[in-house]
Amino acid sequence: MDYKQYITVVPDFPKEGIKFKDITTLMENGEVYKKAIDEMADFAKEKEIDVVVGPEARGFVVGCPIAYALGVGFVPVRKAGKLPREVIEIDYGLEYGKDSLNLHKDSIKPGQKVLITDDLLATGGTIEATIQMVEKLGGVVAGIVFMIELSYLDGRDKLKQYDVFSLMTY
Ligand code: PRP
Repeated sequence: MDYKQYITVVPDFPKEGIKFKDITTLMENGEVYKKAIDEMADFAKEKEIDVVVGPEARGFVVGCPIAYALGVGFVPVRKAGKLPREVIEIDYGLEYGKDSLNLHKDSIKPGQKVLITDDLLATGGTIEATIQMVEKLGGVVAGIVFMIELSYLDGRDKLKQYDVFSLMTY
């Protein structure tokens, strides 16, 4: 399926020069959204995943339904100050800015096989920070799946030792 026809490319959002890839037009189409999620979940089917981890907010849009499809739990990565219990925290660089990410300390058990999900791989800063937190807690990153990869930003260079699948590449 040509998923790209359901993505809207918005010029100069949120800043001049950025061609924003809007996934909401794909999500609005139930049949296409389901196909996309099923294909992303298929990548992880043989990996005996224990838990799916994904960063807010658009990472939830792909991570939660993938976890449901795999029949496993979902662990949210959130921006600072949002998670109510004890967290591990890490600073990270974004395509357009800087922030820090949190993960509940008891959300991943040592040795658990983790699938990391996000809507978009840009610079890879978000996913690199997510990997670092998962591994600090003893999780094993068994795979990483994105709906969209912006290959021209070279985010994959940060993910060389991992099994990575992207549904669409620009
Ligand atoms: C976007 C996107 C990814 C990340 C990709 O999230 O959803 O998580 O940036 O960029 P990177 O590879 O350069 O780190 P954003 O922080 O804009 O948050 P949102 O999903 O809440 O809009």
